[in-house]
Amino acid sequence: MTIQHIRQRHGMSRLHRGYGETWAKTILMGEHSVVYGYPAVAVPIHSLKMRAWAIPTITGHAATLRSLGYYGPIDEAPEQFGGVRKAIEVAKSYAGASTLDFDIVTRSDFPAGRGLGSSAAASGAVVRAILDACGVAASRQDVVGLTNRAEVITHGHPSGLDAVTTCGDDPVLFVKGAMTLIDVRMPAYLVIADSGIAGSTKEAVDDVRAQYRRERDRVEAILQRLGTLASQAARDLAEGGLNSLGRRMDDAHELLNALNISHPVANDLVERARRSGALGAKMTGGGLGGCIIALAADGMSARSIKRDLLAGGAPAVWIHPLNQLDVEVDGGLDQEIEDEAGTGIEIDRNIAGGDVDTSHGRFRV
Ligand code: PMV
Repeated sequence: MTIQHIRQRHGMSRLHRGYGETWAKTILMGEHSVVYGYPAVAVPIHSLKMRAWAIPTITGHAATLRSLGYYGPIDEAPEQFGGVRKAIEVAKSYAGASTLDFDIVTRSDFPAGRGLGSSAAASGAVVRAILDACGVAASRQDVVGLTNRAEVITHGHPSGLDAVTTCGDDPVLFVKGAMTLIDVRMPAYLVIADSGIAGSTKEAVDDVRAQYRRERDRVEAILQRLGTLASQAARDLAEGGLNSLGRRMDDAHELLNALNISHPVANDLVERARRSGALGAKMTGGGLGGCIIALAADGMSARSIKRDLLAGGAPAVWIHPLNQLDVEVDGGLDQEIEDEAGTGIEIDRNIAGGDVDTSHGRFRV
């Protein structure tokens, strides 16, 4: 049966092979404390893409998922794909296409389980691919809302930060579900290094929750301090406070360590980055492994930190220019071309979400 037949059967004349993309994110400041309502700052990493394709299939045929080494029926995919399954369900329902099935393919430039927002990025890309397949435009807020419903399956009580940043254009200051886009005035670089250790965000969040119940005063003081650092970091980004941002990253790392959610390998990379000239460094994301981020004053320093982190055993290191006008990207382009060639799928570049909001205002998600 061709897409033509499926279109006729379901009365969806605009049905076609859909494509959607999102990207990685890194939390500059405020992971964990954001779960308790304190501010956090997150940065989208556009050079690390998550791509998804949705190919309409015959109803009754077991729709397949090809993602992260899994290839088989979506219904039989391991538990880790629960979020993607939910993303498919909510996107189909939003598009008025609940009776349709789609084979789904995802392809990522960045590893999962490293605090780079892989689960939200995958869900967001799948949502966009299905909406695109159905010819349905959705506002960015709607895509974020659908993605966050999938994130509930993955993380239990997500703050919403990952969903917003993996779909968005700008760094954001996120407070209790409301976000302010940050206009970065800082020609600096983030060096992001993978510890090679997959950390479970859910486990880390549960761990902090258990500590909070046991030692409320101590933990509350740490969370509050992390929140203050996040607000200050947002100001640093907007005002160009490079050295103060670096110091705050060091402080945040110490506080996160006091919550026991960093990892010795991550701590070692943080130390190494500082010795290599980073202005500050910290773990990022859920923790218990994952990635670290280091602040570099310029491209030369960023490259030197990257070399040292790779020499120190980090399996992957990426450089991200904080100033959006700076186009120096570290190897991202080669990676993209390689991946596109490897999919064997015709790529439709249109991303669903016609209502693209590029204003630097404030809106709720
Ligand atoms: O590990 P990540 O990238 O999913 O980040 C989780 C951030 C937390 O603050 C720990 C949890 C959340 O929902 O914000």
